[in-house]
Amino acid sequence: MTKVSFFCQSCGNETPKWHGKCPACNQWNTLKEQMKTKVTKKRVFDFSSSSLPKPVQEINSNCEIKIETNDDELDVVLGGGIVPGSVILLAGQPGIGKSTLLLQVALKIKTKVLYVSGEEAQTQIKIRANRIGFEHSNCHVYSETSCASIINHCKENFDNNASYNLIVIDSIQTLYSDLIDSPIGSVNQIKQCCAELVNFAKSTNTPIILIGHITKEGQIAGPKILEHMVDVVLNFEGDRNFFYRILRAQKNRYGTTDKVGVYEMKSMGLVTVKNPSNIMLQNRSSNFSGTAIASTFEGQKNFLVEVQSLVSSAVYGTPQRSANGFNLKRLNMLLAVLEKKCGFKLGAKDVFLNIAGGIKVSDPSLDLAVIISILSSNNDLVIDSSICFCGEVGLNGEIRPVSRVETQIKEAERLGFKKIVISSHNYNQKTKNKIIVIPCEKVIDVYDFLSKL
Ligand code: TYD
Ligand code: MG
Repeated sequence: MTKVSFFCQSCGNETPKWHGKCPACNQWNTLKEQMKTKVTKKRVFDFSSSSLPKPVQEINSNCEIKIETNDDELDVVLGGGIVPGSVILLAGQPGIGKSTLLLQVALKIKTKVLYVSGEEAQTQIKIRANRIGFEHSNCHVYSETSCASIINHCKENFDNNASYNLIVIDSIQTLYSDLIDSPIGSVNQIKQCCAELVNFAKSTNTPIILIGHITKEGQIAGPKILEHMVDVVLNFEGDRNFFYRILRAQKNRYGTTDKVGVYEMKSMGLVTVKNPSNIMLQNRSSNFSGTAIASTFEGQKNFLVEVQSLVSSAVYGTPQRSANGFNLKRLNMLLAVLEKKCGFKLGAKDVFLNIAGGIKVSDPSLDLAVIISILSSNNDLVIDSSICFCGEVGLNGEIRPVSRVETQIKEAERLGFKKIVISSHNYNQKTKNKIIVIPCEKVIDVYDFLSKL
């Protein structure tokens, strides 16, 4: 007997009744009605016999031998390469460059690779491959959406000792499994296909990379519900209107998640950016109030970022606050600090904040530049473009220390900045630099210093 159930398209939660707001993840309008079908117990392959309890020292861990992708940034983010048998999810908005990145990897790897596309025909992929450019590749292209056909094909190769060393699935949302009746792209189908692929990867030690689409709001079913089923979750971020992309590991069962990779989308595919520190400073505006440069450290890399603010008297009753590339809650917190602890009256002002460059930086050392750019716009004070700021701001208006401040000072000096403002807790008198380091304890001290320049 089939029963109707409601599934959240964001987190996969199942409820018997419809709600406007998902009780599990609190997202609005994400519950969709779906036929609940019983999943047949029969699996495509049954490998359960291999998982009997074993003493830990007897378990064979060949995780040390990682497959290098020949893409420096991807290798760094993955912690050295792809672990055999692992399942990696690459999530990102449509059009950001996921297919391009993975086709590049598939073409560059020297071993046998299968690139499965449920979205594009073989000729389309060939056109893209020609655009990227390749020589002697061992990449096989397969246009297929049936999960069973893909697994059967890979299993046949595995049994004939001609197994693929990497399988790329573009994308998990386009696959379907015969074992359940739900429509393609539904939560049930995605979960089932992912489970079948994970099962295959683990039992044959073949690594699989899955592509998953998300929208800005994370609305479409997919990546969110797969996060706990896969070993590594990579996010490919950026603004489609800009050329730079950031690759971040959100979860990594085999390594850390503290590194990022930076790419630039060119006409011949994605190119790694070796020195990304000043990519967000290009075409920077000088001699305007409301602009401040932040020195940040994200994913073991330095980034200097231009922060722009516009503060104006609110025309309507409730002042507007909007932030592009920065967390709106954090902006509201910083505005409250300025109001309550520093004595600036911003309660009746509209505040618009923009981080130039289209890349989202989440390092808290951006706080100080955000605050200074707001004050600069509010008081019409032009900030000298040879000064940069580096510091987290606390709830009392104090400037808190940040990690790896020495490398940030060195990088600002290398890029030609004359002064850098840091927290006095980060200040070390002994280190000698060409750049002038200005230690400050409170936000108000920085403002006093800037207004006297
Ligand atoms: P794509 O990889 O198809 O994105 P996704 O798989 O994430 O949806 O690439 C998206 C965009 O990249 C596309 O609009 C065109 C652009 N592009 C380039 O600028 N240069 C290139 O060499 C390629 C292949 C694509
Ligand atoms: Mg694509």
